[in-house]
Amino acid sequence: MTEHLYHKYVKHMTLEEKIAQLLQLAAPFYDEPGDHSEITGPMEELGIGSETKLAAGSVLGIAGAEKMMAVQKEHLKNNRHGIPLLFMADIVHGFKTIFPIPLAIGCSWNPELAEQSAEIAAREAAVSGLHVTFAPMVDLVRDARWGRVMESTGEDPYLNSVFAKAFVQGFQGDDLRNDVSRVAACVKHFAAYGLAEGGRDYNSVDLSERQLREYYLPAYKAAVDAGVEMVMTSFNIVDGIPATGNSKLLRSLLREEWGFEGIVISDWAAIKEIIAHGAAEDEKEAAFKAIWSGVDIDMMTTSYVNHLPELVAEGLVDEALIDEAVLRILKLKEKLGLFENPMRGADPVLEREIVFSAEHRQVSRKLAEKSSVLLKNEGVLPLAPEQRVALIGPFANSGDILGWWSWTGSKETAVKLGESMRILSENPGNVIIAEGSGIDSISESQRNEALKAAADADVIVLAVGESSEMSGEGGSRSNIKLPQAQLELIELMKGLGKPLAVVLFNGRPLDLHGVYDLANAVLEAWFPGSEGGAALADLLYGKVNPSGKLSMSVPYSVGQIPVYYNSFSTGRPKPEEETGNRYISQYLDIPNEPLLPFGFGLSYTDFSYDGLTLSAETMKADQPIEAKVTVTNTGKMAGTETVQLYIRDVSAEVVRPVKELKGFKQVELAPGESSEVVFRIDESMLRYHHSDLSVSSDRGQFSLFIGASSKDVQAASFRLLK
Ligand code: IFM
Repeated sequence: MTEHLYHKYVKHMTLEEKIAQLLQLAAPFYDEPGDHSEITGPMEELGIGSETKLAAGSVLGIAGAEKMMAVQKEHLKNNRHGIPLLFMADIVHGFKTIFPIPLAIGCSWNPELAEQSAEIAAREAAVSGLHVTFAPMVDLVRDARWGRVMESTGEDPYLNSVFAKAFVQGFQGDDLRNDVSRVAACVKHFAAYGLAEGGRDYNSVDLSERQLREYYLPAYKAAVDAGVEMVMTSFNIVDGIPATGNSKLLRSLLREEWGFEGIVISDWAAIKEIIAHGAAEDEKEAAFKAIWSGVDIDMMTTSYVNHLPELVAEGLVDEALIDEAVLRILKLKEKLGLFENPMRGADPVLEREIVFSAEHRQVSRKLAEKSSVLLKNEGVLPLAPEQRVALIGPFANSGDILGWWSWTGSKETAVKLGESMRILSENPGNVIIAEGSGIDSISESQRNEALKAAADADVIVLAVGESSEMSGEGGSRSNIKLPQAQLELIELMKGLGKPLAVVLFNGRPLDLHGVYDLANAVLEAWFPGSEGGAALADLLYGKVNPSGKLSMSVPYSVGQIPVYYNSFSTGRPKPEEETGNRYISQYLDIPNEPLLPFGFGLSYTDFSYDGLTLSAETMKADQPIEAKVTVTNTGKMAGTETVQLYIRDVSAEVVRPVKELKGFKQVELAPGESSEVVFRIDESMLRYHHSDLSVSSDRGQFSLFIGASSKDVQAASFRLLK
């Protein structure tokens, strides 16, 4: 398949030229003086000569059609073989039209909208000259201290897999060659980066192969099965070996077992970091390990450029290995049509027309509406247009609502909450806005301003949270409460005895002590993106009924972490009722349960679940059964409910989680309306990795749960006969 590329290019390239194809440089190498692009890793001079730069295969972090075209033109003028550059960047949740952060998108439980968001991100990125996005990030996350949980869709392997597939399809479409409005996707970070010990970014990871395969790999596999073009290695070790030099992971598993034929790229400087991990003496050994493991592109180090030539000369690396890597890169360039059209979709005129268009922003707004989660409501929400509202807090009228990885997004054009609430209230003067505090400081004048704003209000809405820098890459925190200044602001407002609603902006589930207990209503907005303010105002005033459900548990406190719904029972599980027995698996000072479980989310209406029935009490491998439940909207407002199906294997060879998500369906119901929701259960849903790593199901008893969250369920049981 790549033979023609070999004959046309590789055969005529010097070893140095081939190795340069494997090099990825960041934008500053191509910047005009004074024009500094965003950096996503530690910048080093690298000391490469202009010849290497001109032969490099790809660049990271350039966007804007005109700039891209200028760089490509200059590159081709000087490149002996006329091989165009690949332009890559982190388009994680939108290009200029920023969508809610992926953790929020996970809470929408709406893969169709997720796919649409990726399609729009691709369209804007492609017209601005990009060919590849470093997304989706599908790392399974269980530790809210880790700043990068904001980039994941959460703690469940099944839900993450559904979204992985949706994002890949949205970015890539079906025909990258002819559809120049799509970009190639790069799933990351392979593998298990989300398990960084203690939630500290870049930290070590240690897990059994069984756990890796069962919980951490499925979402990457879903992306590979969906045809993802690239895989990025993770910074961490996997079974003691840095992922970027781990041939068992990259060659045996990813390429041989899964049949992945695309490009493997290192994360930023990860090849060189094999030395700091303690698995290579120097850059030469690091390069050796990475190329042997099947890493094709070296992002931002000179390990390959400086050391592969001597490794080949010494006979330690076969040149054929380098040819293979080059061919994979050329193959993607060909697939994207770059040899015929090196500028591909880049178009400065169309760029001005479609980037950040009203149509794109409309989808962002819809997704923000669907991904906010109502965590508590004691009748304070929705607000009435005639109410006098004091909107107070650092996010009351802030544009810092895009979240980390919104590189070309602009905070200035983000729709702010205060402005949008004024539009929906009966009279703009009904919404009095005050900053109340900074992110982590509060002054006397801010306190006074807040008290003044609240004085005549019927209801206080506090817009509080983390700044976007407090999560994302390098954004780990050990204390995941709101900053003290904002907790003080909440307490001050609580003291006024008025109804109090809190809107939270944040990139991770927080420890909500001092928030959840004091507020009468809590709306989790995450970082809602470019149209966040408009979406939130619609939710607060009941123009839109909240429907988001948590895709990651909200911990009771940081001491519980990791806390996730699909845990094991232990031999001494804590009973529901207090027994006074000390010798059970519990904390003496806090509950075992998170404050709010996976799958949880309220609505302005209520839903009842009745009459769970199974079509049979036994099933066979070739005879699936059905589970049915009737869901009724018993309230007064139309609403959307996400009906969740969980299963537990109660006696397995290897113990199984107390519940595992196996399916979900969304129903939109008018007041009083009912819907019968049916799930098909087949034997493949009961399979898991056994002690010998084989995948099969066990005969015997299974519990089945259907409900509104991982906690609020109805149960039934069946037997699998074999
Ligand atoms: O894609 C990112 C990755 O997620 C973290 N390190 C930098 C890369 C390139 O920006």
